[in-house]
Amino acid sequence: MRKYIVAGNWKMNTTVPQGVELAKAVVEKAKELPANVELVVAPPFTHLVSVAEALKGSKVALSAQNCADKEKGAYTGEVAVDMLVSAGCTYTILGHSERRQYYGETDAKLVDKVRLALAAGLKVILCVGENLDEREAGRHFDVVKEQTENVLFHFTAEEMASIVIAYEPVWAIGTGKTATAAQAEEIHACIRNVIEGKFGKKVADDLTILYGGSCKPSNAKELFAEPDIDGGLIGGAALKAEDFIAIAASF
Ligand code: PGA
Repeated sequence: MRKYIVAGNWKMNTTVPQGVELAKAVVEKAKELPANVELVVAPPFTHLVSVAEALKGSKVALSAQNCADKEKGAYTGEVAVDMLVSAGCTYTILGHSERRQYYGETDAKLVDKVRLALAAGLKVILCVGENLDEREAGRHFDVVKEQTENVLFHFTAEEMASIVIAYEPVWAIGTGKTATAAQAEEIHACIRNVIEGKFGKKVADDLTILYGGSCKPSNAKELFAEPDIDGGLIGGAALKAEDFIAIAASF
């Protein structure tokens, strides 16, 4: 069964008290939502333990925004998957375009990270997406296909059950410029095809593919109405509980 998910990527925003307050507001407002949508929040590492406490007893899941590509040891400044699990995470986002662009995240590194995350029992939200130059050159399908294949073709059909893909066109992230529902749908359908070609129809049908990039209450309904768009990875609008829940209520 395909799951519908709305995940909030808080990025490098909020202090710990602000994050806890935001999480509590999300939990409170989530009670108004129908049960068919899973909510996930991804605060910064420093907030995880406190936010986990705030989410206790709710159905809102906790995600990290990244993890180390090593298991443990002398890697100053890194956070390992076991640490995330022990802090209360059930998900981690991986391969966000900001990590790829500013911190040199490569597909090869992502294979190691996904492997470690799955082995620790975490579900992975793997981000893919083309930048503006690639879109303008007409390479968007190829770029997204390559990113998907380079990382996920190292895993098994069984492991795919713990993977969510987020398609985030880089030109739409934080710019206020959303992909149209039709632009997003054609890429989502392409991703599902790639997955079907490798892992079969059942895995492809069950796969949750999120859209991210300036998704907000005013455009979520149109996006989520598309057959291959199964929710959203929300940045800016996830920092206001009201907007985040309004997006989730758009299904
Ligand atoms: P945005 O960010 O909603 O602020 O565009 C989305 C994301 O980067 O996950």
